[in-house]
Amino acid sequence: MSGKLRVAIAGTGFGAKYAVGLHAHPEVEIVGVFSRRAERAQAMAEEFGIPFWTRDFQDLVQLPQLDVVAVVTPNSTHAEYVRTALRAGKHVVCDKPLALNREEGERLLREAEERGLKHVTFVPYRFSPASLAMKQAIQEGRLGRIIGMRATWAVDMKAEPLRWRFQRKLSGPGVVADLGAHIFDLMLWWAGPVRRALGKCRTFVPERPAEAGGRMRPVDVPDECYALLEFAEAGVGSANLSWNAKRDQRIEVEGERGALIYESPSLLQWLSGRGAFAPRVTFVSPSPSGRTSELDLPRKESFSTPEKALADMFADIVSYLRGEEKPDQVATFADGLRALEVVDAVVSSDTGGAWVEVPPQAAEESPPSSP
Ligand SMILES: NC(=O)c1ccc[n+]([C@@H]2O[C@H](COP(=O)([O-])OP(=O)(O)OC[C@H]3O[C@@H](n4cnc5c(N)ncnc54)[C@H](OP(=O)(O)O)[C@@H]3O)[C@@H](O)[C@H]2O)c1
Repeated sequence: MSGKLRVAIAGTGFGAKYAVGLHAHPEVEIVGVFSRRAERAQAMAEEFGIPFWTRDFQDLVQLPQLDVVAVVTPNSTHAEYVRTALRAGKHVVCDKPLALNREEGERLLREAEERGLKHVTFVPYRFSPASLAMKQAIQEGRLGRIIGMRATWAVDMKAEPLRWRFQRKLSGPGVVADLGAHIFDLMLWWAGPVRRALGKCRTFVPERPAEAGGRMRPVDVPDECYALLEFAEAGVGSANLSWNAKRDQRIEVEGERGALIYESPSLLQWLSGRGAFAPRVTFVSPSPSGRTSELDLPRKESFSTPEKALADMFADIVSYLRGEEKPDQVATFADGLRALEVVDAVVSSDTGGAWVEVPPQAAEESPPSSP
């Protein structure tokens, strides 16, 4: 692809972080921004010097010589906006979760593939030095055969008003999709497909004040989830996802030759100027010694500031969109769909009370190589 890549952004919340990353790229021009409220679209256009803003998604997609649409709007809108962009012949970057459910995700993947368009699901934790170190160490066989994995992550949203995240028709299955899209993606990326899942979900905060203030309204999504996962080649895993406490991401991968413990603070908070970001990976020798050592992390300089991290993440994505070979850490709709399949299996299991199979095509793929 010659000339600058022309990108339009839908969404001005987390979408503003896309603007930071894309704005830093010398070969990218952000040509338009969409938000339903004019003041939000206009403010982001002014902040980043974007020449066009609109309240109508169709107008965004019709911009001349547009190459890529980034969809960073509430989960329920992803399917419609992504489909509209694909049908207009645009490559698409869509934030996680790819869609509200597996069926929607499958249709989006199929449509993008059939049209020969590039598709990216943005899962930023993949780019973190700690996550890259986990991927590399597991791939190199540092742990030998994997016995199992334990994941926990809690983001405190107890005091949040009733935004779209807490409404099923806009968000899908609440915390399972919101935090699961990150955690399940990392587990799948590091250790290969999940075969089946058992889930228990709860709503600890059953009502929240309306966003504009005023009376309490019911919440119809879970804010607490416990999942057991059976992997095709990586033993059994557990994941606890919660909106009711504040705990860093922690994923322990247990292998026959030792364990790797991944710990990461919230990337979103750091990217938004709150807190520090100092993720780490600890190797634990097999018992009885249990000696620990910290792994050297790759690309640490990338995460020296939020602006640099966003610039480097989007540089990887842009190089793929411009036709270069896809960096492994760039996730596609196929990866987004795999995480959604696990989300769906956990939610169906919670409803039905039994283990639920993850579609076999995901489980049949070969796991990451491990000598
Ligand atoms: N990858 C990550 O780490 C990460 C972090 C945060 C969020 N996200 C994802 O990014 C997406 C957006 O989340 P966010 O936190 O940016 O949400 P947000 O702050 O509420 O912003 C949503 C944006 O979409 C617009 N919008 C368009 N259609 C809408 C609709 N039907 N209902 C409500 N808003 C609509 C909103 O403004 P108007 O009301 O003016 O239209 C706003 O510009 C979600 O899929 C979320 O999961 C990902």
